[in-house]
Amino acid sequence: MEAEPPLVRVSGLTKRYPGRGGRRAPAVEALAGIDLTLTRGSDLALVGQSGSGKSTLARCLARLEEPTSGQIWFDGTDLLSLRGRRLLPFRERIQLILQDSATALDPRLRAAEIVSEPLEVLGRGDRRERRRRALELMETVGLPAAWAERRPLELSGGQRQRLAIARALAVKPQLLILDEAFAGLDASIQAQIASLLRDLQGRHGLTYLYVSHDLVLMGLLADEVAIMFEGRIVEQGAVARIFTDPRHPHTRALLAAVPSRPTPAAPPPP
Ligand SMILES: Nc1ncnc2c1ncn2[C@@H]1O[C@H](COP(=O)(O)OP(=O)(O)O)[C@@H](O)[C@H]1O
Ligand SMILES: [Mg+2]
Repeated sequence: MEAEPPLVRVSGLTKRYPGRGGRRAPAVEALAGIDLTLTRGSDLALVGQSGSGKSTLARCLARLEEPTSGQIWFDGTDLLSLRGRRLLPFRERIQLILQDSATALDPRLRAAEIVSEPLEVLGRGDRRERRRRALELMETVGLPAAWAERRPLELSGGQRQRLAIARALAVKPQLLILDEAFAGLDASIQAQIASLLRDLQGRHGLTYLYVSHDLVLMGLLADEVAIMFEGRIVEQGAVARIFTDPRHPHTRALLAAVPSRPTPAAPPPP
């Protein structure tokens, strides 16, 4: 019997941007050959300093950006060979959640509309069904349905992130990519969102790719960490191993830069 393919397999992925500041400016190699595998139901954190290529990788995976070379397989399908209509189902199966949903969410829309909009775009259900589904999703992420008419700016940062998660869940994705989705939130709110995500992961069979510059936070959230540096993954391993036995000099540098917060001795309980 053939083994089930991993949910995501990335191989030799590169992305080169033309240099900024004129024709002679050197090109930027944002991704310099990424190999990465995500198994179903896992959570991996991609950690690196600003400019290491994390968001470029996230956007390539979400097919918002065209890589220069390499391959991305999603659930056994060669994602980069797909165009137009054949790509559409994958745009649902992979959802990207960004930092600062104050601007990521349309400020004119009301909470329930924000959640139901992707369903409307896809032509799913009628207006009443979409509304009912949106209220259900709001409750799922811990937002009272009574807040359905609130606008994003009438919510706190943590509540907006819950709304962004509800909107992402509306299309029943398999992979959630959370790019700096915790940045700018208080530690207590980060912990609440983390616990929500863990809960949703079990119930909906989701796979998570966290993206962050914050190694300690990622150590608390993910089972496994991949360290990115200058467009490459320089080290990858279980959280406990990365914290107790960092092998790459850049991983050690990231750990040394951590202010004296406690480092997790073991990954968090499932
Ligand atoms: N659209 C773009 N055009 C040109 N250069 C870019 C673009 N996007 C990112 N870069 C460059 O690619 C590198 C990686 O950026 P990015 O993926 O945003 O890193 P990170 O998310 O880790 O901070 C940086 O040098 C950045 O300046
Ligand atoms: Mg980034």
